[in-house]
Amino acid sequence: MSSSEAAGNLEAKLERLLAVETFDPPAGFTPRHQVDPDAVGDPEQFWAEQARTLIDWDTPFVKILDDTNPPFYQWFGDGQLNVSHNCLDRHVAAGRGDKVAYHWHGEEGERRTITYADLLAETQRFANGLKSLGVGRGDVVGIFLPMIPEVVVAMLACARIGAVHNVVFGGFAASAVRERMEVSDAKALVTVDGARRKGKTAPVKQSVDAELGDLATLEHIVVVRSTGTPAPMLDGRDVWYDELLAAADPVCPAEPLAAEHPLFILYSSGSTAKPKGILHTTGGYLTGVTYTHRLVFDLDPATDVFWCSADVGWITGHSYIVYGPLSNGATSVMYEGAPDYPDKDIWWQLVEEYKVTIFYTAPTAIRTCMKWGARYPDRHDLSSLRLIGTVGEPINPKAWLWYHTVIGGERCPIVDTWWQTETGAIMISPLPGRTPTKPGSATRPLPGISPALVDEEGKPIEEGTGILVITRPWPSMLRTLYRDDERFKETYFSRFGPETYLVGDAARRDADGYLWIIGRIDDVINVSGHRLSTAEVESAIVAHEGVAEAAVVAQADEDTGQSIVAFVTLSGDRVGDDADVAELRDHVAKRIGKLARPKRIIWADDLPKTRSGKIMRRLLRDIAEGRELGDVTTLRDPGVMAALQGKIAAAADD
Ligand code: PRX
Repeated sequence: MSSSEAAGNLEAKLERLLAVETFDPPAGFTPRHQVDPDAVGDPEQFWAEQARTLIDWDTPFVKILDDTNPPFYQWFGDGQLNVSHNCLDRHVAAGRGDKVAYHWHGEEGERRTITYADLLAETQRFANGLKSLGVGRGDVVGIFLPMIPEVVVAMLACARIGAVHNVVFGGFAASAVRERMEVSDAKALVTVDGARRKGKTAPVKQSVDAELGDLATLEHIVVVRSTGTPAPMLDGRDVWYDELLAAADPVCPAEPLAAEHPLFILYSSGSTAKPKGILHTTGGYLTGVTYTHRLVFDLDPATDVFWCSADVGWITGHSYIVYGPLSNGATSVMYEGAPDYPDKDIWWQLVEEYKVTIFYTAPTAIRTCMKWGARYPDRHDLSSLRLIGTVGEPINPKAWLWYHTVIGGERCPIVDTWWQTETGAIMISPLPGRTPTKPGSATRPLPGISPALVDEEGKPIEEGTGILVITRPWPSMLRTLYRDDERFKETYFSRFGPETYLVGDAARRDADGYLWIIGRIDDVINVSGHRLSTAEVESAIVAHEGVAEAAVVAQADEDTGQSIVAFVTLSGDRVGDDADVAELRDHVAKRIGKLARPKRIIWADDLPKTRSGKIMRRLLRDIAEGRELGDVTTLRDPGVMAALQGKIAAAADD
């Protein structure tokens, strides 16, 4: 059969499958773990049992949940444990030191096999290295690294000594790193000489120096030698990672820490320009990720090879590249590079080579692969896969069906997992092999999790669309926003009271009780499963000297789920041209990162505002998506909309 015939057959098959509403669990798949969602009974006891059976405690907890001061909940508060011990020492002590923790695959095809014993040895040395720099319990350590094994070592070393890591996604600009280090008072930063991407190298240390060189609170910068890119080192402040390791004592016992000791901060976008420092703590977070990684992915650590294709700089990487898999003693694949380098089949080559059994990725990636065509996965033997998953954004049925058919070979259950940076771990997902799936629905909450849909007044909605909330605390929930308890209360617990967590998403519940996530109800944009704030992008744009005003909205995008549209008014009488578009996009990339660049820039003489001067984004969204305009009667100057519409029409004619 020619490849165009095969593509035609696949297309016809997907069209046929679009009519199927519910997929029963694949017959050949037998779930490994027993859990009865209806038998949870007392959720507190349920979570205590998970914490006791899945985790090693130095001091077992007696108190399960302290809910006396909502929304500041504490889990397992009188217990003590260490996350790095749970991820490393306990497996090595049980005789599994030679088990592979990571098959690391570099962008140029380099391979490194890292066992649990290797990881423990390097983590102990680096933990001692950090101590020698004066880093101790409660100190914040920034981590700005690409997808190299040292990123895992750095995180675990912090956890080992009670330092709090603050990882910044490697794709962010150095100025975003500065902001995150500044607001968290980071004492040290672990970074790299250079980072590779598709055959090119970016001089990371040089950029870090240019932006963070004068940050007084940052006492030390540790630099991993990765690419050999020239990296100026400042005497007394900067130190090479390998030299620090070589000088360090090889033994560093894991420190028993209170269950509520902070484990990490991860900055995420909210509805203002200032990123939110989401704080996770030790015992509850580890319980949540260990439980969900085992149950949702039907994990057998002895036989499975798990691969989460996210970047470690996002919560998905924290929970399902690092902490969940390591705590469970699993073997993972860690891949440094892009999905289309050296060719568009690299992911499937890795699945074949490492015999990956569980694969976890984002709907955007699936849509991209679908666009590239089935001929790339078809080059490889994907029969090792037994379960596949998605995260980060709603998946459209066509992409789900392609994933099911082409990647899953129609035999793998798909877990569409809904969760957030704030929730720490998966909250809503099918139980593989048990829950019948409907393409596009994350199905039902996991045992122990209590979501609800409410209307504007907070009244419960049984069926239909509403605001998604969580009505009971859960162990892996965020504890606060770092050094900003007020914003924490205001953002998540003011609308419906201190006991109801406001998710920020709208969702629909169908007649079978299945949940369908619709999207954000705040000014957060989801581009390729990455969360960005409209306000943050706006403030980056208006920081350009030629810009008078800007408003940013999301528009639906076939490839990336949503994309960024910026309405921009230039200063003076200037009318923007193509060069201005390129310059503004570049400007945003430098201030935030490439992922925040607007896909479309629309030049506006004025922006639609209410009489009180508030920009009416709803109307801008209507314009961006070519919809009939909503109510314009509250506008200060309705003529603005006519002018904008005229502009869009003229652009379409060009
Ligand atoms: O809108 C939801 C969407 O991603 C948001 C959380 O983003 P972030 O904190 O960056 O974490 C992403 C990875 C856990 C949610 O509020 N989202 C996440 N997963 C799904 C989803 N939307 C629909 N379906 C999902 N499975």
